[in-house]
Amino acid sequence: MSRYIPKISSDSLHRKVVLITGGANGIGACLVKQCLESGANVCIGDLDNISGERLLKNCHDNFHPEEEDMPPRAIFQTTDVTNYPSVLALFDLAFKTYKRIDHVVSAAGIVEIGNWFDFELTLEDVRQTPTHKVLDVNLLGSMYVSRIASVYLRHNRGANSDRSILLFSCVSGFKESPSLFIYQASKHGVTGLMRSLRNYISSPYKHSLRINTICPWVTQTESIKKVEAQWKNADLPTNTPDEVATVATGVLNDQSLNGTSMFVEGGRSWEIEHNLNRLESEWLGEAPSKVLRLGQQLLADGAIWTAPERARKRSSVSCGIPPGVPLHKINGLSNGLKNGISNGVNNSITNGTTNALPNGLANGVLNGATNGIH
Ligand SMILES: NC(=O)c1ccc[n+]([C@@H]2O[C@H](COP(=O)([O-])OP(=O)(O)OC[C@H]3O[C@@H](n4cnc5c(N)ncnc54)[C@H](O)[C@@H]3O)[C@@H](O)[C@H]2O)c1
Repeated sequence: MSRYIPKISSDSLHRKVVLITGGANGIGACLVKQCLESGANVCIGDLDNISGERLLKNCHDNFHPEEEDMPPRAIFQTTDVTNYPSVLALFDLAFKTYKRIDHVVSAAGIVEIGNWFDFELTLEDVRQTPTHKVLDVNLLGSMYVSRIASVYLRHNRGANSDRSILLFSCVSGFKESPSLFIYQASKHGVTGLMRSLRNYISSPYKHSLRINTICPWVTQTESIKKVEAQWKNADLPTNTPDEVATVATGVLNDQSLNGTSMFVEGGRSWEIEHNLNRLESEWLGEAPSKVLRLGQQLLADGAIWTAPERARKRSSVSCGIPPGVPLHKINGLSNGLKNGISNGVNNSITNGTTNALPNGLANGVLNGATNGIH
């Protein structure tokens, strides 16, 4: 069963600090309100400073700090998610004000601009570089926010504190959406970013953070004005922005969720990643699914891609380590060899025969190499 039912209460985010980009309007603004209602302090970043300041005033009127000397429950800063220093400044403001950040939500987004693939484009038209603003806001913005979040979320955290990143993808992040060419590529990118990070960033030896995505279908905000009437005429379900925000608040609050994509339609939410993985051998076929699994196991957390290339000394002895093998595996090998050799020598001395020495040494090298490479 993939139905997800969010569980939230009036104190589920008590004193948590939530940073939200794209929080001045639509779903983001509803999320700001719900986080405040659940007890969190909220840092809002948005390009739209008029709506942002208006929302901030509303927050200050309705939500007050528990004690007088505490910072305000909400702060706002004009932010452009396509500008790295601007995103950084937002995190600095949140950290300076609240001394820590617990959850980060990347909700800023825009819809398709123009038609990159207009079939009336001429040889002359196609010479003009098209705008890539949609890609910049939706994908690059999410990448900037995630990167900076991955560092800030690790600071000033108490023992066992739960921290997470939540990205706004879309139905277009997993299902084809004709004519939303760049938008769809950007939202697939957002889902891909979450998938590439979910095992890496959640490792207790690394960031120890959760990361999830929300994939709303048609939600009643400015973004869907063009299709709203058609949708209603066809009697298709829509979400209110509040319903989507409730799913988002639930995901922030649920410590068991990592690597999920929540499809939201008609106010209901459905997790899609688990069944995609579980049913892979059915939709892909058993043989290719098995090969995929073996490859994934080999690559594990993928550290092989990011390990720095080391300049290697020329040596007449090759131990067969391919370029890019992570340092811990090489260290494992050398420690294994050291231990294996010393065990082999000790055993042969204890056994007291000279013949046993070369055998012990050879066995030691073999065992050490085999055990150490893991
Ligand atoms: N409304 C829907 O039907 C729907 C469906 C699927 C996904 N989504 C996604 O949900 C998220 C919220 O959408 P919404 O419908 O509430 O949209 P919205 O237009 O109501 O709100 C988006 C907010 O992002 C801000 N923004 C735009 N560019 C920015 C930038 N460069 N830097 C900072 N802020 C910027 C806008 O000012 C606005 O406040 C988006 O990521 C959107 O793609 C919406």
